[in-house]
Amino acid sequence: MTDQTNAVVHTPRVFSGIQPSGHLTLGNYLGAIRRFVEMQESGIETIYCMVDLHAITVWQDPDALCHATRELAAGFIASGLDPKKSILFNQSQVSAHAQLGWVFNCVARMGWLNRMTQFKDKAGKNREAASVGLFAYPNLMAADILVYHATHVPVGEDQKQHLELTRDIAEKFNHDYKVDWFPITEPVIEGAATRVMSLRDGTKKMSKSDPSDMSRINLTDDADTIAKKIRKAKTDPEPLPDSIDGLEGRPEARNLVNIYAGLSGRKPEDVIDEFAGAQFGQFKPKLADLAVSVLSPINAEMNRLMADVAEIDRILGDGADRAAAIANPILERTFDIIGMVRSRQL
Ligand code: AMP
Ligand code: TRP
Repeated sequence: MTDQTNAVVHTPRVFSGIQPSGHLTLGNYLGAIRRFVEMQESGIETIYCMVDLHAITVWQDPDALCHATRELAAGFIASGLDPKKSILFNQSQVSAHAQLGWVFNCVARMGWLNRMTQFKDKAGKNREAASVGLFAYPNLMAADILVYHATHVPVGEDQKQHLELTRDIAEKFNHDYKVDWFPITEPVIEGAATRVMSLRDGTKKMSKSDPSDMSRINLTDDADTIAKKIRKAKTDPEPLPDSIDGLEGRPEARNLVNIYAGLSGRKPEDVIDEFAGAQFGQFKPKLADLAVSVLSPINAEMNRLMADVAEIDRILGDGADRAAAIANPILERTFDIIGMVRSRQL
């Protein structure tokens, strides 16, 4: 579809992905999955992917990867993603991602990727030993999004830089080939908990890969474990302040307030109003009860779904067929624009 200026008008379409590289955390749930569900319910076309090709940029044990992919699918569905309303699939089943990823390896510049902070964090001191895939990772992420002409991408705060790169890649491609082909995607970074922090250190992101399991709440944790992790979460000795400004310089307190707000769907300001002056000894049990009430049903549903992996695999296969039906024509047209000879359908 084109408008009067002949610019392509892109219908709204949502894409996002999560790596199957460990258990889902409360950070994934509040920062990403909750938003995925809201967008699905808003009636926009939604496509959600288990990005297994991204996961192998660092070593994954094959059996563990397979299990984590199915568990992630179960986590999506248990959290409210409906395979009839959204397209749910794992990345490696739709080859267009890797194919467009290669094209983008040739569009993005070394200098752009050299600035990516996630690569610096993940590669650590020994960059020579990092995989080439870990460096090129954001190009594949741009391909994930643009192979669907997705217009909106819900993510946590940590993915902002990758989405800016996605826009840069789309712009450079459109500019170099003199086309108006790829959309300039909007990041959707919203809610009280776009950056959930570690329970052991309020200055570090809660992450699947943190060596300490006490630093995070997993969607697979049972009620006792959740309560214990919250009870033991690091805090300071002061009571909760009576205004949001009083959280300044108190990262652990801020984090727990944000988590409460995220789980209850309220604003951090309202949580502070309710708990002004409360000691952590009072606040933490309330937070634990809330977390258990939200997460336990999800956990139970995940266990139920994981008892039938054949059904999960069927859902992923069906999602991949539907995803490929959108992606392949976009990839074919992209190859035409680039000047690839094409004498058979993908
Ligand atoms: P990953 O686990 O790195 O594949 O992340 C999947 C999604 O969860 C992305 O949208 C991230 O931005 C989001 N996410 C991961 N960790 C957090 C966190 N601690 N707080 C908020 N969002 C997060
Ligand atoms: N890079 C994202 C992360 O680590 C995962 C991801 C891969 C993604 N491809 C994506 C997120 C496309 C959104 C859209 O969290």
